[in-house]
Amino acid sequence: KLAPLDASRLQINKTSTPKHKLANDQLVFGKTFTDHMLEIEWDAQSGWGVPKISPYHNLSLDPSCAVFHYAFELFEGMKAYKDANGNVRTFRGDKNMERMNKSAERIALPTFDGEELIKLIDKLVLLDKDFVPEGAGYSLYLRPTMIGTQASLGVGIPSKALLYVIASPVGPYYPTGFKPVSLEATDYAVRAWPGGVGNRKLGANYAPCIKPQLEAASRGYHQNLWLFGEEGNVTEVGTMNAFFIFKDLITGKKELVTAPLDGTILEGVTRDSILELARTRLPAEEWEVSERYCTIHEIIEKATKGALVEAFGAGTAAVVSPIGNIGYQGKDIAIPLARGNSGEYTAKFADWIREIQYGEEEFQGWSRV
Ligand code: COI
Repeated sequence: KLAPLDASRLQINKTSTPKHKLANDQLVFGKTFTDHMLEIEWDAQSGWGVPKISPYHNLSLDPSCAVFHYAFELFEGMKAYKDANGNVRTFRGDKNMERMNKSAERIALPTFDGEELIKLIDKLVLLDKDFVPEGAGYSLYLRPTMIGTQASLGVGIPSKALLYVIASPVGPYYPTGFKPVSLEATDYAVRAWPGGVGNRKLGANYAPCIKPQLEAASRGYHQNLWLFGEEGNVTEVGTMNAFFIFKDLITGKKELVTAPLDGTILEGVTRDSILELARTRLPAEEWEVSERYCTIHEIIEKATKGALVEAFGAGTAAVVSPIGNIGYQGKDIAIPLARGNSGEYTAKFADWIREIQYGEEEFQGWSRV
């Protein structure tokens, strides 16, 4: 019988050489890590092994391991926040566990009881709680990861895996802070496709997006606005879900639009949070909340006639990232920025989410001490 993941078996080996903690203004996204990491090995004969928290260290792996050759890798991104009372809080970790299991299932890596991993992550965060930076925009970024570690070049189900979690104190994802980004609408490369794995958080989805990003950068744009299909459907922006706000010029009614979860769109926790907040907090007489595709042509047409109100990206790392400009086929479309650095509702969503994450506002149990 295979052992399930069991948090009660945790063994802790504390560091004897605590690291120096950086000041907030020294933090660079994902560059420095806390004193400890969590590891749990899995093998096909016995199941999940003893969870271990130990000093942050290098991994020693056989060069033939599945992860190095066939991309048996998946990850999550979640954050821990320090609230005004000094408590550490995590945000919707249950959603990350759900998604992590879906990713694992998709690439034949082992699944696990998400509640057990949450308990273990809590232990890691508490042990390293002095690394959780204080202040709006600052947090401890948690990176649960799973890799196939079977030492073999045979292409098949990995018979060994390693689940580990590392933690990095972070500030605002973009060094420029809450500033609008400029996008190049990209149609010559696609991020994901029907029947593919765009809805799963696999490392293999990210590496191929860097070259198009460099190409966009060479033309002066920060990120790609990923299009798909003949129609030019807008799917995502950079590594984030994309949101647009349109307005009906006759009735004044507004529409919040993001792409539907059709299998090609990453099931973002921030995406889901924005949709839920929009549906519960925006007046239904004045707003429609739509999970539907809009095309680059619709965006250009709406922008031209003044019906495009705002646009932003949403993800765990940058949370809400205002979009200020979209380049398509040599022309730039300016997005209105009513608040200077963002639109009014983009700022409102960013505030709403921040208030919940830092425990200033309670909402549906999303933030947990
Ligand atoms: C996001 O949170 O938006 C991400 O996709 C994380 C990124 C660092 C890969």
